[in-house]
Amino acid sequence: MNRRTALKATLLTALSTIMAQAYDKKLIVNTAEIKMKDPANPTKGELKHTPEIKLGDKDAKGYTLVEVNIGQQGIIHPSTDKHWIYEIELFADGHKVSSVSLEPETSRGYLAARVNLEQVKELTANSKCNLHGMYTAMLKLS
Ligand SMILES: [Fe+2]
Repeated sequence: MNRRTALKATLLTALSTIMAQAYDKKLIVNTAEIKMKDPANPTKGELKHTPEIKLGDKDAKGYTLVEVNIGQQGIIHPSTDKHWIYEIELFADGHKVSSVSLEPETSRGYLAARVNLEQVKELTANSKCNLHGMYTAMLKLS
């Protein structure tokens, strides 16, 4: 086997491994944008799906740790084979700065990124549940 053939075989093996781990897209049955009915009195279901955006330390290069947990007030969204958060997106003033694709059971709703917040006025995060749709949260920065 020459080097080119060996490389091809390695790439195909890696690709088939990646494909084998990807979830079945048919499990995503709800992509609707969901708004809280009464933001002053969120339900447990709303708290479970709404992103919680937290800021951490700023590193030596000026990038702040931004963590997004799904959901809020200690009510964490489950991650089972039929019900999980499959994607989280993070936006700074409307521009996507990070996203994560999550696998059922093996990973739960969490994203962490280092973001330069120097000129940023607000952070927005979307949480996408395969059964219950997309929930959004915003954090205003002073
Ligand atoms: Fe859900």
